[in-house]
Amino acid sequence: MSPDFDHPLDRRGTDSIKWDLKSLAPDGRRILPMWVADMDFPIPDVVSSALRERIAHPVFGYSYPSDDHQEAFTAWQRRRNRWEIDREWLVYAPGVTPAVRAAILAFTEPGDEVVIQPPVYNPFFTAIRDNGRVVIENPLVSVGHRYEMDLEHLNAQITNRTRMLILCSPHNPVGRVWTPNELTALGELCERHDLTIVCDEIHGDLIRDGHTFTALGSISAEISNRTIICAAPTKTFNIAGLASSFAIVQDPRKRKALSATIERLGMDLPNTLSVTAATAAYTCGGEWLDALLEYLSATYDWFEREFTARFPRLGLCSIQGTYLAWLDFREVMEATGADETMVQRALLDVGGLRLSEGSWFGSAGQGFQRMNLACPRDVVREGLDRLELALEALG
Ligand SMILES: Cc1ncc(COP(=O)(O)O)c(C=O)c1O
Repeated sequence: MSPDFDHPLDRRGTDSIKWDLKSLAPDGRRILPMWVADMDFPIPDVVSSALRERIAHPVFGYSYPSDDHQEAFTAWQRRRNRWEIDREWLVYAPGVTPAVRAAILAFTEPGDEVVIQPPVYNPFFTAIRDNGRVVIENPLVSVGHRYEMDLEHLNAQITNRTRMLILCSPHNPVGRVWTPNELTALGELCERHDLTIVCDEIHGDLIRDGHTFTALGSISAEISNRTIICAAPTKTFNIAGLASSFAIVQDPRKRKALSATIERLGMDLPNTLSVTAATAAYTCGGEWLDALLEYLSATYDWFEREFTARFPRLGLCSIQGTYLAWLDFREVMEATGADETMVQRALLDVGGLRLSEGSWFGSAGQGFQRMNLACPRDVVREGLDRLELALEALG
């Protein structure tokens, strides 16, 4: 039976950040949360069954990233991304954010510069700053409503303290799926400047029809050798709360250094249920994912038509991957004199809608809001109705 993504799911009362935290407006009304990047869809049946089977055993002692788990992941990379990786290259980490932080500690020193390309996932900024490293921003440039990397600007920014570049691929929040040409050009630039690349591919399975994801490590052995790829089943299969990821590190010296850091931080042992869930998902979850991508692609087609017709004063970036829409409020803000706080207040207090404010992704995100579309289409429709109310209040 194919999964029913239209069926609304009540997630309240599950200690959900999205549904149970900050979920009431000041007047006690329920806010529709379309901010946090998890999905309002049930996980694949094959994953629930595997978890139920595991839970039937009454002991939850220490676990390790088993051979089956590693094999399921490497086979997934081979099947889905046409990338042959060796099980030996894998380093377990309890999430992509912890892996990115460990890579910063392992491959840079305090005071070193790390490049990111905003607007981008905010924890990249904090991961660099919390560890006493320096953020170098190479903002994406928007051509129409399509973002590109500015490699000329990047080249000019690099100094003798620049050690690392963190790439978000596909890019949260602007939804770009980088092409092989773009990845090759970036990789070659990093080679010229001897930068280590940390490539966050957590959204790599969430690709819209008509686009193709390219794993950075599959571009060339040279690029793969200077790269720490961070991949995870958590966005793909909606199991973020189980916390799981693999870093793929081809270079043995880098792998040893990253493993040592992860051990030093005490992060080397996985949660038992995450191993069960990830192994089942990577082994048997392909069909479910295909159905999900079909549903999401149809949502994007519908959403783009609806949004453009209903909100001529707002802009919309074309969604190539992730399940996040990047909405441009700048024209409305200029016309009404509203700043980001006022927009956020109108969304929350009038519309009862919580989106992610653009400045969370760096100053390059000012004037934008991010909307999570991974929910039944009727919920997206309700989100648009609420957005309309908020816009009317802004004037
Ligand atoms: C680009 C990106 N990286 C990492 C994460 C979080 O990963 P994890 O939960 O594995 O730490 C997210 C979650 O939204 C994300 O969008």
